[in-house]
Amino acid sequence: MISTRVVATAGYVPEQIISNDDLSKIVDTTDEWITQRTGIKERHISAGENTSVLVTNVAKKLLERASVSAEEIDLIIVASVTQDYGTPSLACMIQKEIGAVHAVAFDVIAACSGFMFALSTADKYIKSGGYKNAIVIGGETLSKIVDWTDRATCVLFGDGAGGAYVEASGEAGIIREDIGSAGDQYEILTEGYTECANAFNDKESSIHPKWYVNMNGREVFKFATKNVAKSIKKVLEEEQITQDQIKYFVPHQANVRIVEVVSKKLGIPFEKFYINMDRFGNTSSASIPMALNEMNEKGMLEAGDLVVLSGFGGGMTWGTMLIRW
Ligand code: ACO
Repeated sequence: MISTRVVATAGYVPEQIISNDDLSKIVDTTDEWITQRTGIKERHISAGENTSVLVTNVAKKLLERASVSAEEIDLIIVASVTQDYGTPSLACMIQKEIGAVHAVAFDVIAACSGFMFALSTADKYIKSGGYKNAIVIGGETLSKIVDWTDRATCVLFGDGAGGAYVEASGEAGIIREDIGSAGDQYEILTEGYTECANAFNDKESSIHPKWYVNMNGREVFKFATKNVAKSIKKVLEEEQITQDQIKYFVPHQANVRIVEVVSKKLGIPFEKFYINMDRFGNTSSASIPMALNEMNEKGMLEAGDLVVLSGFGGGMTWGTMLIRW
């Protein structure tokens, strides 16, 4: 049976680092408030590099680390809510930059669960037998859709990209998944709204207030703690394994308090959850692959380890995946 294995990972963040103290100079906030409520201390913010630049850097590193040529790539899937253009997709822009002339390339949108949805899609293509490998990336420049006058949201997000090169294999890789959507709750977290205005109707063009991230923080918190816990539990139960068999849980890096609640609900020691939101903030679809890549670069993962990736996001959506390293 064909399985999909993660062969290489990579990440990229823009150079500029913004601390909580830096933010306190532009909005009425403090390092103490942000740290206590979210666990975030600093984030990287792009000084002009658009999302395509971030994700292309990741793609180039993946080719190098996996020792494959661009011409050999069958599939490129990018998850993002901050694309450079409505069209082309970021995946097609990567295709051009790296010269992956034989690849099928497209983007998926599932907000902070985006990487999970993209990886799940790549897994299905590979298991179909028609595709032998894929580059899967989550990348965001959330700084361009954040209202920098809104202290309730601007302190939460950061820019970055992360990804994985995956390949068809005879050995188990992606073992089990649980992904889902709850569109009935879409209004609790939105961004990028564009009004249906046109010159014919003589509407004045301006950025609609809902272009920026709009969030009911408390409802998102409730959604996340409930669904992430439920989804991880489901995957473990269906695979008939217990949490002690899992080496690490890699959660979406939105808020450390969400992870603490999930850890308590499931009786999983907090130390088993990898946390890097203190240094990167919430990078939406990039957060899980960036975390996974950091762990990989630190040598925390050994062949055969079981790892659980789990995220939630706008839509609303969630996704959990059990993988053997
Ligand atoms: N600095 C200081 N005070 C602030 C700030 C800030 N940056 N932001 C909000 N406040 C104030 C509010 O104005 C409010 O003041 P008031 O009581 O005088 O009205 C007070 O703090 C409490 O505000 P709440 O929004 O109720 O604060 P809460 O404890 O819920 O924390 C937070 C807000 C951190 C966003 C929380 O709701 C949360 O963690 N939600 C989960 C959502 C999340 O993590 N989203 C990330 C993006 S979504 C995703 O990744 C899918």
